[in-house]
Amino acid sequence: MLVDDAHGFGVLGPDGKGTSHLFGVSDDIDLIVCTFSKTLASLGGFVVGDEQVINYLKHKSPALIFSASPTPASVAAADAALDILIEQPELATKVAANAQFIRERLRSLGFNVPEGQTAIVPVFIGDDHQTFMFWRQLYDEGVFVNAFISPATPPGMQMLRTSYMATHEKSQLEFILDKFEKVGKRIGHLK
Ligand SMILES: Cc1ncc(COP(=O)(O)O)c(C=O)c1O
Repeated sequence: MLVDDAHGFGVLGPDGKGTSHLFGVSDDIDLIVCTFSKTLASLGGFVVGDEQVINYLKHKSPALIFSASPTPASVAAADAALDILIEQPELATKVAANAQFIRERLRSLGFNVPEGQTAIVPVFIGDDHQTFMFWRQLYDEGVFVNAFISPATPPGMQMLRTSYMATHEKSQLEFILDKFEKVGKRIGHLK
């Protein structure tokens, strides 16, 4: 059993320990893979598993063997972010609450936002051109999101991926919601 906890680590479970802790099944998981690029705000990632399995990966995984090592700066940044999470585990609860607030409010504005509990909240737009228009106009209004179109998504599920931090204040979340509503209406996505 392998869990890709890119979206769960630092957000879900007690003290943000991740999806397997949320469900109380960490002893049943063989491998956890996770990126540094979300909760830890860096580059690179990690694999956690039994020593024998990790040793096997070190010697057999082309992705590991034929890639350059992570830069010291990326590892140090991830390490520093991990220290912050360990010292302030309440940040995990705060980021999850911010994302939940946004999910509910975006839905009430009429956006198509799937169920979820993590801090990366997709907003389905459903068309390449409209997704790019939305992305660009949000950017010009001061809100940065990531645009995903096919083949990264199934056709019809093109989306804006929005990401939240524990340190986002309510006023900033309201600003984002205002801009989503304004741009959504302007480009004809919202009625
Ligand atoms: C579920 C999932 N796994 C893995 C990754 C890979 O992360 P990265 O390439 O940033 O390390 C991502 C990135 O968006 C992701 O969403």
